[in-house]
Amino acid sequence: MRRGLAVTVAALAAVAAAQSTCDIVESQTSIEWYKRFQIEYTSEQSEYWSTSCGDLKPSCILMPKTTQEVAAVVSTLATNNESFAIKSGGHNPNNYFASIDGGPLISTKNLNQVVLDAVAETVRVGPGNRWDDVSAALDGSGYTVIGGRIGNVGVGGYMLGGGMSFMSTEYGWAANSVLEFELVLANASVVSVTESNHPDLFMALKGGGNNFGIVTSYLLQAYPQGDVWGGNLIFDATSEVSTAILAAVRDFTENYDDGKAGIIVTAERTLATLLDIWVIFLYYNGPEPPAGVFDKFLDISDFKINTCKTQSMNSLLSGNNWAVLKGSVYTIGTETIPLPSEANGAEVMGKIFDHWVNVSNTAQLIPGLVASLAFQPLPKKLAQIAKAKGGDMLDINDDIDRIVLELDYSFLSSLSYSQVDKTMRDTYSGFKTIVEDYQDGGLLPKDVYLPLFQNDCFYPQDYFGRLKPEKLALARRVQAEVDPNGFWKTRTGGFKIPSAY
Ligand SMILES: Cc1cc2nc3c(=O)[nH]c(=O)nc-3n(C[C@H](O)[C@H](O)[C@H](O)COP(=O)(O)OP(=O)(O)OC[C@H]3O[C@@H](n4cnc5c(N)ncnc54)[C@H](O)[C@@H]3O)c2cc1C
Ligand SMILES: *[C@@H]1O[C@H](CO)[C@@H](O)[C@H](O)[C@H]1NC(C)=O
Ligand SMILES: *[C@@H]1O[C@H](CO)[C@@H](O)[C@H](O)[C@H]1NC(C)=O
Ligand SMILES: *[C@@H]1O[C@H](CO)[C@@H](O)[C@H](O)[C@H]1NC(C)=O
Repeated sequence: MRRGLAVTVAALAAVAAAQSTCDIVESQTSIEWYKRFQIEYTSEQSEYWSTSCGDLKPSCILMPKTTQEVAAVVSTLATNNESFAIKSGGHNPNNYFASIDGGPLISTKNLNQVVLDAVAETVRVGPGNRWDDVSAALDGSGYTVIGGRIGNVGVGGYMLGGGMSFMSTEYGWAANSVLEFELVLANASVVSVTESNHPDLFMALKGGGNNFGIVTSYLLQAYPQGDVWGGNLIFDATSEVSTAILAAVRDFTENYDDGKAGIIVTAERTLATLLDIWVIFLYYNGPEPPAGVFDKFLDISDFKINTCKTQSMNSLLSGNNWAVLKGSVYTIGTETIPLPSEANGAEVMGKIFDHWVNVSNTAQLIPGLVASLAFQPLPKKLAQIAKAKGGDMLDINDDIDRIVLELDYSFLSSLSYSQVDKTMRDTYSGFKTIVEDYQDGGLLPKDVYLPLFQNDCFYPQDYFGRLKPEKLALARRVQAEVDPNGFWKTRTGGFKIPSAY
């Protein structure tokens, strides 16, 4: 009797304390994995853009090499209740999105194929690549794919957020050129997701984040590629220069009829030294830009630096890596604004810029604070191309031009996080208020669709809630089909689909 009870208690205890994923992978599989204090663990942890993500310590880092190994990891996770994270390039700075404290981290680093099929004009790309790995592999092939603008960014997360490229006005969001997703579902089965075999899931993956599974490869449309022209212009942010640049980016967005041209226009403030500069990324998909395309920027003659030149795609993407400075905590946030008319441009763009300057001033005492504000054109033509290629979750329409504002605050110590958190929210909510006030006052178009761009969202921003209701409904429906038990929803971080009630 006593003995029987003891056995029962022991059996119950065994059920309650399910084995950890790390232990099961170690004892029952041959999947490569690293534990804390191993050199490879430390090195993998250093590969985050934000040090706050690398400071979170996973219980182990799993390094699957094949889709089957990813599926085996997912089966193992199903035997317990641990939180986990999926990491590609580690560029998303939101804590717990691709990082985890105490549970297993699945790194996609070994899923790093880049296979060009020149006959079919496709490239199969693993999520463990960074965009400069992809461009290096395609260098000299005469082909490219649509991807990141800064080489160091990862393929995996970038693509699931839609992906903004220098070639988005020529070819759409990066996700619009995906032909197939190879996906490991919550029940560990592997599906090849295409437009024809799983149309809703295919749509949901184009901007749906990590809510539906782990992508183990992307089959991408390849496009012919020769030399490109591009680089950076850097200016001191005097008030005349700022006025001219704000006018130029507005003008470019409205009159962007050459789809081969792409820009990112970034203001940067180092608060401790009050060093204010503009950094402009220019890109032209051809060896030289035709006269006129970038004149409004190049005519602002007092630039300090101009690195624009003819070069390969790989050289351009790797060259832009100087912008990835490690060793800081980063936060990112966004808002989307309708493009003001030329007549209202100076007023509206000026107000946005001044609000950002004012809010960043309130954070001046935070050690090491650098504030940046990027203006990213989202012209009507991008909306037309995205729709023509089958659409995506963002589903922007071509009634207006837009600008996606990307905000970053970087700083030295996580101790400042809560203060920066507030500064970030004040900045983007202020942009929204400015837009609404101008809409009420008739200076900006009213009743227009202004979704948030997921790849630039701060963790509390409601990416899914700002989509069109029919796209949110699609996301919910697909989630109910492929993740009925809420595996991805409850156990890993990222932008989540809000429940219907
Ligand atoms: C310097 C810099 C430049 C940038 N430039 C651009 C740009 O030009 N265009 C643009 O659109 N965005 C850009 N971004 C934003 C970037 O796209 C996002 O931060 C994106 O999330 C980073 O992708 P990653 O693979 O490096 O992400 P990670 O941080 O590794 O992952 C981000 C999210 O995606 C999930 N995820 C990653 N891989 C997979 C997978 N295989 N399956 C399922 N889920 C997965 C993770 O779980 C996590 O939630 C830039 C960011 C930085 C820091
Ligand atoms: C699993 O974890 C969640 C969140 O921590 C918790 O709410 C839930 O009760 C746990 N379930 C089990 C079976 O332990
Ligand atoms: C920024 O601050 C200045 C000085 O306090 C103020 O005059 C201006 O109205 C503010 N601008 C915005 C957009 O908040
Ligand atoms: C796994 O989930 C998918 C999507 O819900 C379903 O179609 C499939 O039948 C499931 N596979 C197994 C083995 O249960």
